[in-house]
Amino acid sequence: MNGFDPIWLALREPADRAARNGEVRAACAAHFADSRGITIVDLGCGAGSNLRALAPHLPRKQFWRLVDHDPALLEAARSALGRWADGVGMVENGLRLAKHDLQIDVEFIQADLASDLIETLAPSADLVSAAALLDLVSVGWLRAFCDLLARKRLPLYAALTYNGEERWIPPHAHDAAVRHAFHAHQARDKGFGPAAGPQAAPLVVGLLAQRGYQIVEGRSDWRLDGDDRALIRALTDGVVAACRETGLIDAPAMQSWRGARREASVIIGHIDLFATLSD
Ligand SMILES: C[S@@+](CC[C@H](N)C(=O)[O-])C[C@H]1O[C@@H](n2cnc3c(N)ncnc32)[C@H](O)[C@@H]1O
Repeated sequence: MNGFDPIWLALREPADRAARNGEVRAACAAHFADSRGITIVDLGCGAGSNLRALAPHLPRKQFWRLVDHDPALLEAARSALGRWADGVGMVENGLRLAKHDLQIDVEFIQADLASDLIETLAPSADLVSAAALLDLVSVGWLRAFCDLLARKRLPLYAALTYNGEERWIPPHAHDAAVRHAFHAHQARDKGFGPAAGPQAAPLVVGLLAQRGYQIVEGRSDWRLDGDDRALIRALTDGVVAACRETGLIDAPAMQSWRGARREASVIIGHIDLFATLSD
């Protein structure tokens, strides 16, 4: 598993869609229910799954700026959105998609959010969104991000932030050691400084609450079983690769864990949140 591999992102998209918290999404939808149109900036867009999940719940006319530093993922987003839409046309800066009764203009922006956050959020927008991103960034970046959101009075919809919880069924003797090693790997620098990992969601909630935001948050756990075997196996292989890099677990223990986990079920904890400043 490489978190930024389009094959991995495609594999996780159905599980992400099923896991997304309905109350959080409904709070976001309700906030914009009376808007005729909406502009959304999606940070770390990957192959565009956040747009596909959220667009059906937003006003009919939508303008999305999809931001990622990886040009291959922006290209994957362009292709995947073309396949997802009922109709696709070209507009000056990207694509115009028709999906049911929605008109969705999409711009694809290559930017490094570690250095270009201020420029990325400079053009006006109604909503900032991100999925499976906040646990990758650093505590310092999250502070600067929350300051910037508050200064611009921007709402945030952040889905699928990993909260560190993993429950494998049935349990295995090495689960705790593997989780410890995986978290050690997760805390490494992902381009933003040491990653916030499981502390990201509570930190963002606290920072935004201090800045006067009202926040709706809820669980968006993956609950993976036999129907998700390909995803479980990819997840297992990714965890094993990450743990090996840490050197914290010996090879026979890792091999035993991998063999058992590829056939197991698992719950992986995530948090969704929608945060907005009242007028
Ligand atoms: C785990 S993926 C999530 C992708 C997508 N949001 C989804 O839910 O499928 C994290 C995304 O953040 C992007 N990313 C990581 N570091 C970045 C950076 N410094 N600037 C912009 N994007 C970045 C990756 O390329 C990747 O698309």
